[in-house]
Amino acid sequence: MLLTTMMTTFGVHAAVADTATVTKAGFGKLPDGTAIDIYTLKNADLELRITNYGARIVSLETQDRAGKMGDVVLGYNSVEGYVAEGAAKTYFGAIVGRYGNRIRGGKFTIDGKAYQIPLNNNGNALHGGPHGFDDRVWTGKELPDGVEMSLVSKDGDMGFPGTLTVHVRYTLVGSALHIDYQATTDKDTVVNLTNHSYFNLSGDGSGTILGEVLQIDADGYTPVDAGLIPVGGVQPVAGTPFDFNKPTAIGARINDANEQLKLAGGYDHNWALNGKNGVMKLAARVYDPQSGRVLTVRTTQPGVQFYSGNFLDGSYKGKTGATYAKYAGFCLETQHYPDSPNQPAFPSTELKPGQTMRSQTVFAFSVR
Ligand code: GLA
Repeated sequence: MLLTTMMTTFGVHAAVADTATVTKAGFGKLPDGTAIDIYTLKNADLELRITNYGARIVSLETQDRAGKMGDVVLGYNSVEGYVAEGAAKTYFGAIVGRYGNRIRGGKFTIDGKAYQIPLNNNGNALHGGPHGFDDRVWTGKELPDGVEMSLVSKDGDMGFPGTLTVHVRYTLVGSALHIDYQATTDKDTVVNLTNHSYFNLSGDGSGTILGEVLQIDADGYTPVDAGLIPVGGVQPVAGTPFDFNKPTAIGARINDANEQLKLAGGYDHNWALNGKNGVMKLAARVYDPQSGRVLTVRTTQPGVQFYSGNFLDGSYKGKTGATYAKYAGFCLETQHYPDSPNQPAFPSTELKPGQTMRSQTVFAFSVR
């Protein structure tokens, strides 16, 4: 614990106790020999590990109601684990981009010019195409209470126009993790960045998340077609298994005879948040009756993709040695709505030269 001593106007020294320490170590090598780093951020409440491979969250330890620390995200012990997934990517903990979530047919038009992103998900582009930001080596920089990850994505990278310069900052503020996103471009482009952590508030590798109780502050969601692309705009959640305004166990309705749940094999949808786009607001809250942990997610983004880990199939073996089966973790990917570049009614994801895209998401932990 690093103690910062401050001199007050009265000449008294006061200790600021929640300053984080930041250390850096090796995290293995990519197949081409590139050495990968891992940063450990630690304060009185949290211990967070971030690798520069995909700017990923590798582990996040928080207290349970008995004060015992436990890791609440899924991941691997070294970079080799992430690489070994091959094309069947989970995106564990990664920053996904340049366009997180799906673009129909990988196609969109900007200023009358058509662009094509290589397809990697049932005829659509997912998370920026087959080599998105999740499998890039980012440049890490230590900050007083965190780490900044930076990436320059070249003009034409995965088919996207414009050189995009991205900075993602992870900062510990008491028992909360702040993620700040910033991007600039030199040509008109689209951008949608999010963090793809899978949480299990009972602990990494401790079974399913079906008993964890979720609340999402949204009256609407965007129903999808078989390719999980929104069709029909924002529809009311009222009277459907998608209404999480009242806290409800994730598993309570997941097997209901509902077409949308069947299409996705569970929840894998975007909720249109009640608060304003660009303004910090509650997105979701999850309570785990077992550990007592509560995760509160706030964001400036207009939407959140709640994904219940439907594609995890037991073929992934994580940090604890346990395998990750269906529903082993949930994601709350704060974001712009899927396929926004093709859906003018959705909040715009366009970014122009001279503008700066900024967004913030806060993952705050407490116990009950
Ligand atoms: C996102 C998508 C899911 C799935 C996961 C990764 O959450 O919406 O459909 O692709 O990423 O497996």
